Amino acid sequence: MPPINLPVLFVTSRLPHHAQQRLEALAGVEVRQHTGTSAIGRAQLLEGVRDADGLICVLSDKIDSELIQAAGPQLRVISTVSVGYDHVDLDALRRHGKIRLGYTPDVLTDATADTTVLLALMAARRVKLALQTVANGEWGGGFSLSTGLGSQFTGKTLGIVGLGRIGYATAQRLLPFGVSRILYSGSRSHSGRAECLGGGGAEYVSFEDLLRESDLVCICCPLNERTEGMFDRRAFAAMKSSAILVNTARGAIVNQDDLLVALDEGLIAHAALDVTVPEPLPKDHPLVVHPKCTILPHIGSATEETRNAMANLAIDNALAGIQGLKDLAAEVT
Ligand code: DGY
Repeated sequence: MPPINLPVLFVTSRLPHHAQQRLEALAGVEVRQHTGTSAIGRAQLLEGVRDADGLICVLSDKIDSELIQAAGPQLRVISTVSVGYDHVDLDALRRHGKIRLGYTPDVLTDATADTTVLLALMAARRVKLALQTVANGEWGGGFSLSTGLGSQFTGKTLGIVGLGRIGYATAQRLLPFGVSRILYSGSRSHSGRAECLGGGGAEYVSFEDLLRESDLVCICCPLNERTEGMFDRRAFAAMKSSAILVNTARGAIVNQDDLLVALDEGLIAHAALDVTVPEPLPKDHPLVVHPKCTILPHIGSATEETRNAMANLAIDNALAGIQGLKDLAAEVT
């Protein structure tokens, strides 16, 4: 019997343990994978995707017409292990016409909302400085009543930019901390979702009103043409000087040069970011070393449970696409 040519699935990085085991046991598909400890380089990506019928990628893999061409006309599905798909050139996909795009919504909502709250608390309670104080041996004698004081959310106004799944879950988590008012902005109102929130629900307001009235602003919206750079000098100038900004969405929503000026000039009190441009941010970057800026290395969804669920969903999407099924488990349409 002549050898059967199995469809090829190229995977650009190692998956979390359980999903990796599943990937390795897949039948009916030839899996090729970049398993190096460092992220796949562009040349390796273009080489690896050649002749692939399906691709499982992550948000640092740029998916554009060059990649689609390198893959060849048989490519049927791109399955990103992320809810965000701003790294994918949707126009290039449309021009090709037959490539479907899978993504991983819902399964990372809780983990990402948890991280948003974590950063909000770190910023409010000045945890960066507190940890440095302990690590540097600067924890002075006795119990100080007057140093290292932060703020709390009791009676404060929370502003959510983008009341999608993650924005909603973030608001739900912050309500028990005693916030008295929740505002949200975005391209459209989500009245059903907003009413479901306890504590009087959330109020749909303009971006400007949200900036002006919020004590804690959480960015939970996707990166697109409308949101890129929306936190610029003007936005920071509109915010309260005591306000905290948290970003667990995409780095490019914030103009980092303007943020630096805003922190230096005291336009806002603190920024806490899980996402930056670039990623990683160099360790001597002015925002990394800034006492009013807390930075995490894009760990919003980084729990065992969530990363395995994301990778499993991405495998489901890739297999469905390769098999030409009518529905992917989660498809960008
Ligand atoms: C995503 O999925 O888009 C997050 O940024 C990473 O988990």
